[in-house]
Amino acid sequence: MVGRSQAEPSRVLFVCLGNICRSPTAEALLRARLERAGLAGRIEVDSAGTGSWHVGEGPDRRMTRAAARRGYRLDGAARQVTAEDFHRFDLVVAMDRENLAALEARADGGATPRAQSAKLKLFSEFLPPGSPTDVPDPYYGGSEGFDRVLDLVEEGCAAIVDHLLGERAGD
Ligand code: 4NP
Repeated sequence: MVGRSQAEPSRVLFVCLGNICRSPTAEALLRARLERAGLAGRIEVDSAGTGSWHVGEGPDRRMTRAAARRGYRLDGAARQVTAEDFHRFDLVVAMDRENLAALEARADGGATPRAQSAKLKLFSEFLPPGSPTDVPDPYYGGSEGFDRVLDLVEEGCAAIVDHLLGERAGD
């Protein structure tokens, strides 16, 4: 993205609350899509949570099963977002407004808050008009919530790939 050379990967971080449902799903789906597009080495993808309750745990089993039914494998251990993430990543995508607000509050603590908040996006910015503003938190709901996450994340990740390709077009 801006300021990065062709040799240097762009870096994308997805952020939800627990880092066990929505953001690991977005991480896995974007990575799968980048691999299919032959862009795996050029764009790095990670995920984190604004909360700390599930740090060290693997992805939620209900989310993992729903993703597996569509051919995606979720992995990794949950971690909490850090101040360093705002420097390391070029694009930080919050899965809902609550987590975007939490990230904005943290970015303000940095040395260059304007540059940091410019990297922050809401996942639904990559969804078509009329889509929900938030990717709904599926944790306390039924199985349809996990499929809803997958529907939204599949659609948004396609647009994120286009966005990243556009950003790199000037390399
Ligand atoms: P996530 O889902 O933010 O998509 O990972 C949640 C996971 C855990 C909790 C809430 C949401 N929780 O309250 O423990």
